[in-house]
Amino acid sequence: MIKIGASILSADFGHLKEEIKRAEEAGVDFFHVDMMDGHFVPNISMGIGIAKHVKKLTDLPVDVHLMVENVDLFINEFEEMDYITFHIEAVRFPFRIINKIKNIGAKPIVALNPATPLDEIEYILDEVYAVLVMTVEPGFSGQKFIPVMTKKIRKLKSMIVENGYDTKIFVDGGINVETAPMAVKAGADVLIAASAIFGKEDVKTAVKNLRDSALK
Ligand code: DX5
Ligand code: ZN
Repeated sequence: MIKIGASILSADFGHLKEEIKRAEEAGVDFFHVDMMDGHFVPNISMGIGIAKHVKKLTDLPVDVHLMVENVDLFINEFEEMDYITFHIEAVRFPFRIINKIKNIGAKPIVALNPATPLDEIEYILDEVYAVLVMTVEPGFSGQKFIPVMTKKIRKLKSMIVENGYDTKIFVDGGINVETAPMAVKAGADVLIAASAIFGKEDVKTAVKNLRDSALK
């Protein structure tokens, strides 16, 4: 069964409580909070306070996606979070970061920018809960899915299967009813979407359509 994470980057921040409620009622499985620092990516989004606020507003799991240069600086702020996603491109000592995340009781997820090869994570693949394959360049919602990423997802899936690991595959960026089936066929377990959920008038139908499309 495919899981869906709602990225609040496209939500109406003036009505976050209502937006979270709408997404919960629509049946999303967790929330995804994109934290950007204006250095790792050319954008600034939400800070620690918003992530904590989201956690208070929902009983569903919360995933903090750290698109920041200094990952180490923030981990201890996120004890109550369920998943902490860090970028491999931003860390020099991934085993140290993974252990730090596990020590605060969260599940570590490693994210890869579209052009980052899978070799980079070969030796940490069994240590993380999941790999988040960025299917757009990080920084903004509403961008187009990069088609060659299906090849990367397939390759990652075989790495996982061949080694007998139970690491999950998350995809993030440009996920909608057209691209979700491509990602799922290639091996994705979890879909993260912002504009395909919060960008829609009827969030319930949007989530249902996304879920149905993944079965195609
Ligand atoms: C992009 C973020 C994504 C983004 C997805 O840097 O990591 O989570 O919100 O937005 P959509 O689904 O609109 O591509
Ligand atoms: Zn994200």
